[in-house]
Order: sequence, then C-alpha cells, then structure tokens
Amino acid sequence: MNCIKDKKGLDGKIVLLRLDLNVPIKNGKITDETRINKILPIFKHLIEKKSKIIVISHIGRPKGVKTKKLSLEPICKCLEIKLQKKIELIKDNIYDLNKKNLSKKLDNQILILENIRFYKEEEDNDNNFSKQLASLGDLFVNDAFSCSHRTHASVNKITKFLPSYAGLQLETEINALKKVTTEIKKPVTCIIGGSKISTKIPIIKNLIPKFDNIVIVGGMANNILKYKGHPIGKSIQEINCEEIISDIFKLSINHSCSIIFPEDVVVGKSTESNAIIKGLDEIGNDDLILDIGPKTIETISNIIENSKTILWNGPAGYFENSNFAKGSFEIGKKIAKKNKSNEIFSVVGGGDTVALINNIGILSSFNFVSTAGGAFLEYLEGKELPGIKALN
Ligand code: 3PG
Repeated sequence: MNCIKDKKGLDGKIVLLRLDLNVPIKNGKITDETRINKILPIFKHLIEKKSKIIVISHIGRPKGVKTKKLSLEPICKCLEIKLQKKIELIKDNIYDLNKKNLSKKLDNQILILENIRFYKEEEDNDNNFSKQLASLGDLFVNDAFSCSHRTHASVNKITKFLPSYAGLQLETEINALKKVTTEIKKPVTCIIGGSKISTKIPIIKNLIPKFDNIVIVGGMANNILKYKGHPIGKSIQEINCEEIISDIFKLSINHSCSIIFPEDVVVGKSTESNAIIKGLDEIGNDDLILDIGPKTIETISNIIENSKTILWNGPAGYFENSNFAKGSFEIGKKIAKKNKSNEIFSVVGGGDTVALINNIGILSSFNFVSTAGGAFLEYLEGKELPGIKALN
C-alpha cells in the first residue's frame, strides 16, 4: 500500500480525497467534531504540497435520494473555519462536471462534492460512475478507514481508474490496529453496541474464536433478548436473525467465549421520554428499550475489571437523551479508570462511541481511538477490507 506522504510531485495535481465526514448533526449543527479533527493532517499535507483538493464524502444513508438534512453544508462551513480557507460545496450533478469547469473553482484549492450517497451508483460500486468521478482528478487518496469496509464506488472501484494512495489517518489507523491485534493480552473483552444491527450481527460469529468475552448491548441486544423469549415491545430489531444468533451461542460454547447480554433494561415510550428500569419480563408492548439496566452495568463492570484488553464499539443505549446514557457512561468511566492505573489496554472505535467518550471527557483515557465502527470490527475479524485491498 503506497502512502501519500511518500509521494513526490504533488504540486498543482488534483487529488480526489475520500474522507469520512459522517459526523453527528443535530438541527443543522455538528455535535461532535472528532472525525473532522482527525483528518486535518491530510489537508495540511496536501496544502503544503500545493495540491488542489476535491473532497468526496458521505453522511448518513440517503440511499440514492437527495435529502436536504443530509447535505455536507455544515461540514463544509466547519472545515472552512478549521482550515482558514474558502471551500466551495459543489452541488451540481457529478455527470455534468469535468476538469475544465472545475479548474477555475479550484483556484481556492479546496472543493467538496455534495453527499456522494445521493447517487445510487455509489453503493452499487458502479463502473461508469467511478470512471466519471475519477476523470475529475489526477490521483486518488483514501483517508477514510471507517468507510473502507464498504465496496462502494468512491472507496473501491475508483481505484481502477487512478493512481491510488493511502491517506495519513488511514495509515495511522491500520498500523495501530495491526499492533493491537498482534500484541493482544488476554483475557480480551469486546463490547459491541450501537444501532447498526445488520452491519454488526454477522461479524460476531467470526469474533468469537478471538475473544474471551463478547458483551452485546445496544440494538443488537434486542434481537438476543427476543431470541431468548423476552418481549422487546417497539424496540429496534433486525428481522430473520434467529439462525445467526443460534450459531453465535453454539460457537461460543465450542470456543469458551462468554456472551454477555442485558439482564435488565431501561425503557421509554419514545426516545424523548423519561427512563424506567425494567426486568426482562416486564417490558410492555409500547416500550422502547433504550439503555441497559443497573444489574447489567454491574456485570459488565466486573467483566472489565477482570480483562487485560478491552475493544469497544457502539454505545449501550440512546445516549443522545441523557436519561438513557447511564449504561454507556458507566462502561466508559470504568474503562477509563482501569486504563489510568495501567491495568488494561483499551481501544475504542466508531463515530457515535467516540462522540460519547469525547462528551464525557475521557477520550485521552484510551490507548487508541479509531474513527471506524463497522470497519474496525471487520478488521478485527481478520477480513481484508475492500477499500484497503483496492489500494494494494
Ligand atoms: C461509519 O459511520 O461507520 C461510516 O461512515 C460508514 O457508515 P455506513 O455504516 O453507513 O456505511
């Protein structure tokens, strides 16, 4: 994998720069800038080398539909302030763009293309779309490790048409994760939460042989509870997961890996409501499970206490409402405490999880903070990610 830091002759070259600017936004305002701060070094490097930069990124999952709420506008403004440069957001149709009509705009050095997932072709890894994108630049840089598990046009197929390089943050993340996975100290605990059930549930099976404990919280835990015969009311869930879950429990016995899931929960009637602690058989038809309960927090805390390595991706609940943030906060605080006394090695990954620990001011209490969620887990699985494979 060639890294852009070693590339000479970048002066005046147009770099198509794939970033993951998928940051949390509430009412048009960015609520956590960690992912943006992490990619500032690549801008500084390319600006210093006098390259012209066209940023490609997505936000959310618009599935090929233009959605005002998922515009990169707030991110463009934030980058203008951080880089002290005028940056234009290009809203024109990508098929109408060419090097010639972008060249004048590139006098200011940086352009951002509007949310690339407004095009269905992006997720289809479409050949012609990738070719059209590639025709806008002279070389391609992937500095979006957190998107590199996606076989999408601006991550994977585009590399077919341009000389392609790894970005600075991508290289840092891979080197750090390589070190973690080769020098891992047992017992190892992996905590998996969050709401992207369909992305994460198939990964767990492959993680079982590598870990001593897998703690399942967040949306995925609802599927486990349902499988175990407990009511889950209106809570989020993925359909047709029974076979995967049955395999997870069978494999965990074969590999002596403990699967930990909620013993009690915190529910609300909506994400905005107050919190009520409930036992697993007290969950009503109109309840939403939005956090783990106190007994579960206690169990997870004991698991952390007895681990030497902790890998964490995905919050335990809907932490955006502080009524449902206790589970995630307590997990974060316990890891931070053990880390401070050098008793564990801890790695955290994922946009929401990083936002959460930043929010409670414990970001520096982790040995490594990865920007990636799904990509982080797939890397731990031992998979070659399509975005990285393409760079090789
Ligand atoms: C992430 O937030 O993990 C990345 O931006 C990838 O998002 P996705 O799961 O929607 O592909």
